[in-house]
Amino acid sequence: MSETEGSAWDAYSVTKPQRRQTNSRGEKTWFNWTQYADHGPGAEVLPLKPGETVLDLGCGSGGNAAHLVALGMEVTGVDLSAKQLRKARDRWADAPDMELHQGDALGYLAGTHTTFDAIYSVFGAAWFCDPGLMLPAVHAHLRPGGVFAQSQRPPVEGCYGCQASYISRGPDEDPAIVKRWDYEPDTWCALLKEYGFVDVTATVLPAPEDDKRTMGTLLIRAVRDSEQPRTAIFTGAAQGQRYDR
Ligand SMILES: C[S@@+](CC[C@H](N)C(=O)[O-])C[C@H]1O[C@@H](n2cnc3c(N)ncnc32)[C@H](O)[C@@H]1O
Repeated sequence: MSETEGSAWDAYSVTKPQRRQTNSRGEKTWFNWTQYADHGPGAEVLPLKPGETVLDLGCGSGGNAAHLVALGMEVTGVDLSAKQLRKARDRWADAPDMELHQGDALGYLAGTHTTFDAIYSVFGAAWFCDPGLMLPAVHAHLRPGGVFAQSQRPPVEGCYGCQASYISRGPDEDPAIVKRWDYEPDTWCALLKEYGFVDVTATVLPAPEDDKRTMGTLLIRAVRDSEQPRTAIFTGAAQGQRYDR
């Protein structure tokens, strides 16, 4: 992962305000898997108990991680962007059980022997890294029975595999470019099973009915099996989508 990608996400960070002080229910922390405020499932997607450990891949400014800390979990967040992590440290300075690391999520996973009770990524590094590298790394760092979940936009029909995302840097500069990986839900399920996950689901959550926007949210969830980490590379095809590494 290049420094260029870190600066791309720094550019993204300056366009994003901090999370609201409270949500519509008046709560100071909450978990949001979707791109819509006050919408979708919450932390129950990850069946965690107080004291359990969880890793946020591409934690950004740390709002979801802070909620899990408030519920009693020990949370590690990793993010490429120094600016995103600065926002997390400013906003959640009083969350002692949140450990933040700056760097590439794949690099972090390669450099640690820690296993977690759950790993998740909300529009985060799991979307922006090759799943052929990310899924085996996640599998290797989850305890057997541990849950992995990621959310992201659904694919554009016909646009599968590695796609380009453009991050605006204002009218006088070229946009920053980052890569993301898009597949239909069935293909995500096939990939996760290939890498040793079970109880796999991938669902598009609909947009809120009262919102003008209609794009849903792809929520992927899987459980780590009890076998040894896999290194196999996915070579199958589902729904005619070739998986290119
Ligand atoms: C769209 S933001 C989402 C942030 C946060 N998860 C949220 O829900 O607000 C994507 C985040 O993923 C981080 N990211 C992207 N690729 C990454 C990688 N390879 N390793 C670590 N972080 C990454 C970016 O720096 C950015 O903070």
